[in-house]
Amino acid sequence: MRALITGGAGFIGSHLSEALLAGGHQVLVLDNLATGSIENISHLEGRPGFEYHIDTVSNEPLLAELIGRSDAVFHFAAAVGVKLIVEQPVLTIETNVHGTAVVLKHADAMKKLVVVASTSEVYGKNGDVPFREDADLVMGATTTHRWAYACSKAIDEFLALAYWHERKLPVIVVRFFNTVGPRQTGRYGMVIPNFVQQALAGEPITVFGDGTQSRSFTHVADVVRAVVALVHEPRAIGQVVNIGCSEEVTINTLAERVLAMTGSASSITRIPYDQAYESGFEDMPRRVPDLAKITELIGYRTRFTLDDILGDVISYFRSRPPYT
Ligand SMILES: NC(=O)c1ccc[n+]([C@@H]2O[C@H](COP(=O)([O-])OP(=O)(O)OC[C@H]3O[C@@H](n4cnc5c(N)ncnc54)[C@H](O)[C@@H]3O)[C@@H](O)[C@H]2O)c1
Repeated sequence: MRALITGGAGFIGSHLSEALLAGGHQVLVLDNLATGSIENISHLEGRPGFEYHIDTVSNEPLLAELIGRSDAVFHFAAAVGVKLIVEQPVLTIETNVHGTAVVLKHADAMKKLVVVASTSEVYGKNGDVPFREDADLVMGATTTHRWAYACSKAIDEFLALAYWHERKLPVIVVRFFNTVGPRQTGRYGMVIPNFVQQALAGEPITVFGDGTQSRSFTHVADVVRAVVALVHEPRAIGQVVNIGCSEEVTINTLAERVLAMTGSASSITRIPYDQAYESGFEDMPRRVPDLAKITELIGYRTRFTLDDILGDVISYFRSRPPYT
């Protein structure tokens, strides 16, 4: 298979590039380096079957050419990260809505399979965990910028499913829950890289809110394996599928585990949400996936525990002093 990965120089996209090349596939990357980095894919340069283009998905002639040369499109390019979304809502909405619209339009013209990366954020304030794919999406007010990300991704899902129902364009919508591993940057508010960098630098670990909110974290290698398996499963076409892990941890416990595993003497400080992000910021107390569908489709089981994830992220940042 030749795969086009939009956002392929990003965190998950670069791991997917690696996994597909290792599986004997060819990979075309299209990435404008908005949040990705050339360093994420520089080790793949020169590998047979690997090619990258530093450009935006909005460059439609290039996008159409790359889709034309591919068998499947992994559309991962997006404005990602709560901090970025709160600070640059126009960029978020335009990138996520327009970017996905042009990818689907050109893929439809050539009937190429598209995997659309969505997010657990779409469940919003729904308190009924674990989240099943057919659960209600409960969004906050449009005056709270955070919801722009969830809503833009929900529109992407609607559009992808509409192409499938109306025009038989094969699509798979994957809802990633918090995905973590080497190469994820803390710059845009991702909690584990931030905690690890703070611990290694001996700076206070900053917990947003009271720290009793919980999350479930999945190793990027488990996520990538699941995505690759899904494109080989015909029953996944036209489906929305959660990809995550059911092991929950509170952010307070996470901070303590990072301290213990790094051996850091950092303190833990708590910052109210409205100071960390914006006034009126809303967070979800829990976010846990129901994994019945993906388990049934591909026999999904995660291989990496939270300690494995933390171990890998700590080694990654230790190898990059001053822990950037
Ligand atoms: N990491 C997570 O926990 C998580 C959770 C839920 C959903 N997701 C989704 O998974 C996908 C990948 O996220 P990630 O964590 O690897 O983040 P990332 O920021 O590392 O990857 C996104 C990539 O898209 C690129 N990009 C942005 N705008 C672009 C444009 N207009 N044209 C071309 N490239 C563009 C960025 O430069 C970056 O390399 C995203 O769609 C994101 O919404 C990620």
